[in-house]
Parts: sequence; structure tokens; C-alpha cells
Amino acid sequence: MALSDTDIERFREQGFLAIEGVFRPSQMAALRSAAAEIVDAFDADAHRTVFRTDDRDTGRDDYFFDSSEAVHCFLEAGALDTDGGLNREKSLAINKIGHALHDRDATFRTFCSHPWFGAALRDLGYVAPVVMQTMYIFKQPGIGGEVRWHQDASYLISAPPGVTGVWVAVEDATETNGCLWMQPGAHRLPLRERYTVDWRAREGGLETLDDTPWQGSEPAVPVPVPAGSVVLFHERMPHYSSENRSQRSRHAFTMHVTEQLVEWSALNWLQRPTLPPFRL
Ligand code: FE2
Repeated sequence: MALSDTDIERFREQGFLAIEGVFRPSQMAALRSAAAEIVDAFDADAHRTVFRTDDRDTGRDDYFFDSSEAVHCFLEAGALDTDGGLNREKSLAINKIGHALHDRDATFRTFCSHPWFGAALRDLGYVAPVVMQTMYIFKQPGIGGEVRWHQDASYLISAPPGVTGVWVAVEDATETNGCLWMQPGAHRLPLRERYTVDWRAREGGLETLDDTPWQGSEPAVPVPVPAGSVVLFHERMPHYSSENRSQRSRHAFTMHVTEQLVEWSALNWLQRPTLPPFRL
């Protein structure tokens, strides 16, 4: 077992769980280098897709949709000049890399195959956990954008529902560099939104399903964690991270996992028509 009975109970009650000291500094350094290599090879002149969350997700394009089976880099809004040029070096301009790092990059593939992940997810009740998507998130110093309150089930639709977020702190995450915020117990509240894609038009849209306010009865708490920690969270857990106005980056690596035999909605933006399931 990777999790104790107390951990499992806590996850069920609170909807999330932070575990410190899962990975060593050398393992986190390996992820940082692998991400830096991907950014090095990225042609920022060929792809100017920005990832931001303050536009009701209207900025998703083919480069984004095609990243479900690829390794694509998305820019920070604050890294672009008014004429569309980069206002800083490329390595400090990327918002995130996604979404098939586990399939396409040897370092990330090896890391995702670490037995801790499969063990932890089986402890939470999964029988055959599969990784649907992975992201390397930079939260760059000075410009790393806010990620608005949301629930991941809005973006990863399955029947029955059952996605778990696995968030690895590659670097220390603090209240000043944009750590996660969660609402203990709020995973029991309804799903507020759903993002679906009309594939004929190749256009996504965010619909409101429930108007329960984001800042309601359950207070939000910051989840600061040192590098090497893992935060696990329920698919309906509302979560948020602030802008990073500090001078320190806040790199994180995330996986979203589901049960292999769920029915994956054709309306999801994330489709994997050619890649085999990535079993943990
Ligand atoms: Fe999220």
C-alpha cells in the first residue's frame, strides 16, 4: 500500500490528500531537465497558442485538441507583446506542456510508471487505473497565470464519472508562487460546468450545469507543499491557483487517471484514437 487507512479516509472525507516526501530531489530534477529539453526543441514561431482560463476556454484550437496524443507547448498570455512577439526568452514564456507526455517522452513515461502511483490509486479503489492525460505546468515567475476555480470533471467526462487528479510538486509550491487551493468536503457539491467539443465544427464550448457559487459554504484552504510531494484530488473538487507574482517558478507535473473500462465521452476534448491505454 502507498496510502495508510487514515490517508484513504481523509481522501474520502475531504476530497483531496497531500502527501509529502514521496519523491527525491533527483527525481524532480530529472523531470525539470526533460521539460527543459522539450521547450528547447519547441518552435515558438510556428505555434503561438496561449493557455489561459479567464476566457471561458474560447482559446482552444487544433494545436490544443491535437495535443491529446502529442507533446505540445502552450504560451503564457503575459509572455506575448501586443504585436504577438515573445517578450522574454522562450524558456520563461511557456505556460504548460501537454497532454501525452506519458506516451511520448521517455523520462515522463518512466516517471509515470513508478509503482507508487498505481499502488496509491488501487488504494483509492481503482482496479485498472489508466493515465488519460499529463501536463507539465511552469507557473513562471512574474507572469504565471491564475487558474480559475474549476472542477476537473468538467473537462474529463466519463460514465460512470471517476477521474482522479495526481499533482506532483516538482518545485516547492507556496502561497506566494501560486500553490493549489482546495475546498475540503466540496467534492460532494454538484458539477458546475461542462466543456464539450462539437467535432464537426472543431469548436469547444463551456456550459453551466449548476449555479452553486465557487466561494460558498466550504472555505478555501491553500495547499502549500514542498517539492517531491503529491496531491491527489477528486474530480469534483473545486480547485484554483493564483497568479505567480513572485520571482520563483512553481513547476508541477500532473496526471489524470481513470478506470480503464469507463465509457469515455465522444464529447470530451481529450480523445486518444491511436494511442493504447497507459496502465498504471
Ligand atoms: Fe484542474
